[in-house]
Amino acid sequence: MRTVTILASALVLLVLALPALPQPLHVNQQRLWSTLETLSEFGRPLGKGFEAGVSRLGFSEADLAAREYVISLMRDAGLAVRIDPAGNIFGRREGADPSLPVLLFGSHIDSVPGGGNFDGDVGSMGAIEVIRALNDHGVRTRHPLEVVIWTHEEGSTFGHGLFGSSAASGQVKMDVLSRRDGEGKTLAEWLRRYAQDPARLADARIPPGRIAAYLELHIEQGPRLDQNKTQIGVVQGIVGINDWMCTATGFANHAGTTPMDRRRDALLAASRAALAVREEVRAHPGSEGKGTGRQVGTVGNMVVHPGGTNVVPGRVEFPVELRDLDSAVIDSIWKKIQNRFAVIAREENVSLDCQLIFSAKPALTSPALRDIIRDSARAAGFSTLDLPSGAGHDAQQISYLAPVGMIFVPSRDGISHSPREFTPPEDVARGAEVLYRSVLALDTRLPARP
Ligand code: GLV
Ligand code: MN
Ligand code: MN
Repeated sequence: MRTVTILASALVLLVLALPALPQPLHVNQQRLWSTLETLSEFGRPLGKGFEAGVSRLGFSEADLAAREYVISLMRDAGLAVRIDPAGNIFGRREGADPSLPVLLFGSHIDSVPGGGNFDGDVGSMGAIEVIRALNDHGVRTRHPLEVVIWTHEEGSTFGHGLFGSSAASGQVKMDVLSRRDGEGKTLAEWLRRYAQDPARLADARIPPGRIAAYLELHIEQGPRLDQNKTQIGVVQGIVGINDWMCTATGFANHAGTTPMDRRRDALLAASRAALAVREEVRAHPGSEGKGTGRQVGTVGNMVVHPGGTNVVPGRVEFPVELRDLDSAVIDSIWKKIQNRFAVIAREENVSLDCQLIFSAKPALTSPALRDIIRDSARAAGFSTLDLPSGAGHDAQQISYLAPVGMIFVPSRDGISHSPREFTPPEDVARGAEVLYRSVLALDTRLPARP
């Protein structure tokens, strides 16, 4: 009798340890993929296909046209659409209990220059697919649901990433409105082009208590899920990001007649500055998997003035970006970089000045939401891995307002911010399925009143 009991217990434990068999999906993989393909046409390089990637910068004509497509998808899915003063698009589906706060989910559709068709797009189209699947299955939730498409997440036009979610969480300053794009147009002018009144930007702030929880589906943008052959990532936290815009100012002079020892070459100073960024980031314990940290630092571009082959560069503008899960690490490395910049400026006889143009604090996801995402994935028969995010996400700004959770799907070879970014249709659909199940689990498990 005792042996039978032990065997039965062992069998139960074995069954619990095994992943569930893959279940039929509630979302429609083909329908979801076709929206990603259509979205990719906005900002696609002329005459090229899906594989050529996309340049759909926030606040651009391509972005504006893509937004119209997204709005039409939302309306077709029965959502009531509204746009806030930061240009964020919300599509609302009422719940059975109008007194309950909103379950919010979505992502962004803007891209970096020369980006791929998955960063932001998967979470945006995935969120709309969840609504369509709920409609297909005749599901009525208790909570109102809202799909959101955040504005200018990448920061590629105005250097202020997470713009829409920062405005929604009260993290944006009004002086950002006077920043200019490459053609001299201000952010305020672009907001007017998006049919918004820039003077009302602060009104985009979402009042406390209005959101019960925020979920974001996204591609991992790194190699871990792909390498581990794992289907779903449960995000533990999102890195903090600080961006500075730096200017090296020397003296533009004749490249043939100015002796080497009399030059004040701004590009040489900026180049040494870029090397110093790398050295200081690598010198800090924890880089490149040697410790617990994973700090990174990047100089992503340089604009050289006047930019002639036969002119010693007089001025160079370049950004410095530092990221880590711990703000103190960012602060400490930046202090060291500033000391190095002071030495370089003296030695090259130039000035080297930097202004902070963007800062997002690291954010942890909610442990309860992580559990819900993990359970939802496992119940669908998908493998999971808990992991941090080295990319920034709107979820980190929304963490000021509500508990947040993020679902990752694999990025082929860990490539992102590149036309070669790719996630296969079945992985995209798995992510949307986990979002579908997580939304329903939250709807059931959250308390009746906030
Ligand atoms: C957004 O993709 C970022 O991490 O910069
Ligand atoms: Mn991105
Ligand atoms: Mn993104």
